[in-house]
Amino acid sequence: MSDSHDADATTPAATLRTPIVAVLGHVDHGKTTLLDKIRGSAVSEGEAGAITQHIGATAVPLSTISDMAGELVNPEDFDLPGLLYIDTPGHHSFTTLRSRGGALADIAVLVVDVNDGFQPQTHEAVDILRRTQTPFIVAANKVDTVPGWNPNEGQPIQASIDKQSERVQGDLNDSLYGIIGTLSDEDFSADMYWRVQNFQKNIGVVPVSAVTGEGIPDLLTVLMGLSQRYMKEDIIIDVDGPGASTVLEVKDTQGFGTTIDAVLYDGTITADDTIVVGGVNAPIVTEVRALLQPKPLAEIRTEKEFEKSTR
Ligand code: GTP
Ligand code: MG
Repeated sequence: MSDSHDADATTPAATLRTPIVAVLGHVDHGKTTLLDKIRGSAVSEGEAGAITQHIGATAVPLSTISDMAGELVNPEDFDLPGLLYIDTPGHHSFTTLRSRGGALADIAVLVVDVNDGFQPQTHEAVDILRRTQTPFIVAANKVDTVPGWNPNEGQPIQASIDKQSERVQGDLNDSLYGIIGTLSDEDFSADMYWRVQNFQKNIGVVPVSAVTGEGIPDLLTVLMGLSQRYMKEDIIIDVDGPGASTVLEVKDTQGFGTTIDAVLYDGTITADDTIVVGGVNAPIVTEVRALLQPKPLAEIRTEKEFEKSTR
């Protein structure tokens, strides 16, 4: 494990790809709303019955992250381009999509409603993360719904907790330690993120509100710090090598016919390249006719206008 900022200086083709962050958790615990807050959009409002039924992907550039995190993230401390968020459905019928999201991720955010605590799909998500050995942090969401909570829009969480009454602080603490206790029953040692020294050994719990934005600066800071410090070797890629990617979804796109939404995690794909896709019955060998990518901060599944990309 190296902390060196110029680890790839001797291999010019090697570069750092955007770390992939999967967001997992029980239905309605606030995954899409959390991402909406981070990317400044409103995907969750456009969903049928407010239930996510697809995997989504959004690239959030470093500049946006540092704007949101304020003084906690100085862009000059990082050489990552930003973070690619994968939103997954929490409804029980979408286990396959959750597993795919978990398997693809370098790191994950497990979203848990502070009032509801662990629910069936929270346990399922933990099983997926354990199986895929994906490091994760917990976003203890909806702190603004603790009775008596006084919101402090967009503030770091400790500053906001300090401004709450003793009773509110006590109630929040009880809920948070409930979550930490359940993680311990699941054999994960966890603590409030500001007490965690080694995020490889302990799971950090970050209290947040996806609605008021409290705690989002902390969440982004922990994610960036973790990715930069521990993931670096996994995210060094050789951009000149053949492309390797995971298919998120197959769909019909007007004007293009059948398209696939895929996340490229290594190498390069260019138009006219031959690609092989794992089909249901047999491998599909075809050519890349066009590469389309959503603009930064736009969601792959909601975006109607794509930027045409040459590679
Ligand atoms: P699925 O994708 O179906 O699994 O749900 P989800 O986890 O994406 O939940 P979603 O973001 O759709 O939020 C569910 C409901 O909870 C919505 O009505 C949100 O407005 C609400 N919600 C999410 N986060 C918060 C929060 O921090 N505070 C409050 N008060 N409400 C929240
Ligand atoms: Mg959702």
